[in-house]
Amino acid sequence: MLVVREIAVSGYRSLRRISVPVDPLSVFVGGNGTGKTNLYRSLELLQAAARGTLTRDLAAEGGMDSALWAGRRRQGETARICLSATLRHDATAQDFVYAVEIGLVEQSGGKTVGAAFLLEPQIKTERLTVRTRGRTAVILDRDRRTGFVRDDAGRKRSLGHDLLPTETALGSLLDATGHPEIALVRLALAGWRFHHDFRTDAESPLRRPCLAVTTPTLASDGSDLAAVFATLAHIRQDTAEIDDAVDGAFPGAGLVIPRPSRHASFGLRFPDFPARIFDPPELSDGTLRYLALAGALLGYRLPPFIALNEPETSLHPDLMDPLARLIARAAQRTQVWLVTHSERLAARIAEHGSVRPRIVIKRDGETWIDGLKRSGEFAEADED
Ligand SMILES: Nc1ncnc2c1ncn2[C@@H]1O[C@H](COP(=O)(O)OP(=O)(O)OP(=O)(O)O)[C@@H](O)[C@H]1O
Ligand SMILES: [Mg+2]
Repeated sequence: MLVVREIAVSGYRSLRRISVPVDPLSVFVGGNGTGKTNLYRSLELLQAAARGTLTRDLAAEGGMDSALWAGRRRQGETARICLSATLRHDATAQDFVYAVEIGLVEQSGGKTVGAAFLLEPQIKTERLTVRTRGRTAVILDRDRRTGFVRDDAGRKRSLGHDLLPTETALGSLLDATGHPEIALVRLALAGWRFHHDFRTDAESPLRRPCLAVTTPTLASDGSDLAAVFATLAHIRQDTAEIDDAVDGAFPGAGLVIPRPSRHASFGLRFPDFPARIFDPPELSDGTLRYLALAGALLGYRLPPFIALNEPETSLHPDLMDPLARLIARAAQRTQVWLVTHSERLAARIAEHGSVRPRIVIKRDGETWIDGLKRSGEFAEADED
């Protein structure tokens, strides 16, 4: 399994230049507009590089004009967004570093250089290295439209001329035969799950039954929540954890998960109306959101990395403690990373997960984290 050790971002929105260590459980707390969602988004963009949707996703969030750091740049510094992730392979103690730089279409004499749409984001460089006991080998190196990959026998192969400036090599290398390390990194990044603001309106997928297919891991939008619950109840045949999570949040309430036929569904029984089961369309926004978080954090199988953006949204302060317990429990099974406004939630997670929440701040328009050194470590690590 690949464990995330560090994320480095520069030139992206309020992230002028920052390297942040990533722990088994990372908690970032900060006020409005400090850049928490920007940090979360930069992780999503790293996944998009592996899935092959990076330039489209950047265009969809407003394009390079919007996404590039709006502050001043050093003289001669080109306008670039740089994203990188360091992933440690547990079994072999190898460190994989994937880095990608995105920039603007080059122009000369008012015309675009090469065939390109004027405002599209373009991949400028991409690199994947592996560090094994102090030795670093480059296994993918790309500069604009050219580059190479190195196979497991050390042989270099050109990336060919088919690669478009809007495509990442990581996401578009169709034939990964002979390149198990590239496939490993791509699969690890593609498996990350992101949960932000589960929809709870009347048309929300959380409120609808879903196809009854054994579902070990909740989708990012929660659309297979009923199948995740049905998998716990009827495939694992053990709902002790989820029952505990429901009772901890809504004392006396119980989750009802019928054996599915074509579709899976669930309901809640409350102590005030023991004879009545409330279906998802009848549940409050906060109740449904909490259940979705429980589905994400207690699934039959957890993804290699779960990122949560402000999971406390629309939850009553009384739910912070049960939510913190869920998060701390999930962090014993996988890596969990979250940003929150809620100091209460951060404090409860600190208690249940024995971690120190990090404080996100803004300095001269730049997102920073209290106690973080420019070199990317936290100051107190020196004192340990
Ligand atoms: N291109 C940019 N360059 C510099 N800063 C930017 C850019 N785009 C957005 N920002 C800054 O990022 C801030 C928003 O960051 P973000 O959405 O991550 O905040 P947040 O901490 O998640 O806030 P909230 O708690 O309200 O959700 C804006 O206030 C703006 O100052
Ligand atoms: Mg935010």
